Amino acid sequence: MEAFDCIKTRRSIRKFLDREIPWDILYKIIEAATHAPSSGNLQNWRFIIVTDSILKHKIAEAALEQYWLETAPVLIVVCSLEGKVERFYGLRGKRLYAIQNCAAAIQNMLLAAHALGLGACWVGAFDEELIAKILDIKLDEARPQAIVPIGYPDESPAETERDKVEQVTYFNKWKERLKNKPAVFGYYGQVLREAVKKQLEKAKRKIKK
Ligand SMILES: Cc1cc2nc3c(=O)[nH]c(=O)nc-3n(C[C@H](O)[C@H](O)[C@H](O)COP(=O)(O)O)c2cc1C
Repeated sequence: MEAFDCIKTRRSIRKFLDREIPWDILYKIIEAATHAPSSGNLQNWRFIIVTDSILKHKIAEAALEQYWLETAPVLIVVCSLEGKVERFYGLRGKRLYAIQNCAAAIQNMLLAAHALGLGACWVGAFDEELIAKILDIKLDEARPQAIVPIGYPDESPAETERDKVEQVTYFNKWKERLKNKPAVFGYYGQVLREAVKKQLEKAKRKIKK
């Protein structure tokens, strides 16, 4: 699947088929997570793969009773070794980079799952202390950041709404909008269209030869 298609067609999946995920597929998803960028390449993420149904039930309960989580064959609990990042980057490392690094890994997991025909969802609403207790995580060592249920989708949700690029983009200064948006966006659109046209013509000429 082409990268941009993968990004645009991914959806949060909250209903799964009763079908196991082959280990090599799960391996690929976690491998994708490990390829995320991280501050100083510290890779402060750890992944707990949960398949046990009693544990899944307890986790769903600790996730503010999101019982749909139990329908996933696998829950991956993403944990952060924030101390590791704090040692290198101080408070900013602990409060910001440690979280951002794990977030990048989670997004890679969601996209990899989708590219492999699976569905997933980023779940952040849970009682951290309860999750730690269920999974024997020592909170002074690692902190659970997200639960990612993964499985074969049993639903195909409609596209969720997105703000327009023009609405979320400023130019040069905070809140500075363009006076003539269509001219700028249109210009770059035109430049790209011409570049693609040139490449296509070049390819056609090559084929003719
Ligand atoms: C930090 C974070 C926490 C989230 N927590 C939950 C959650 O607890 N339960 C849930 O069903 N979805 C959760 N989501 C998923 C969002 O609801 C979902 O991404 C959003 O509605 C956009 O839909 P989409 O993922 O299909 O594009 C969370 C997403 C993020 C990024």
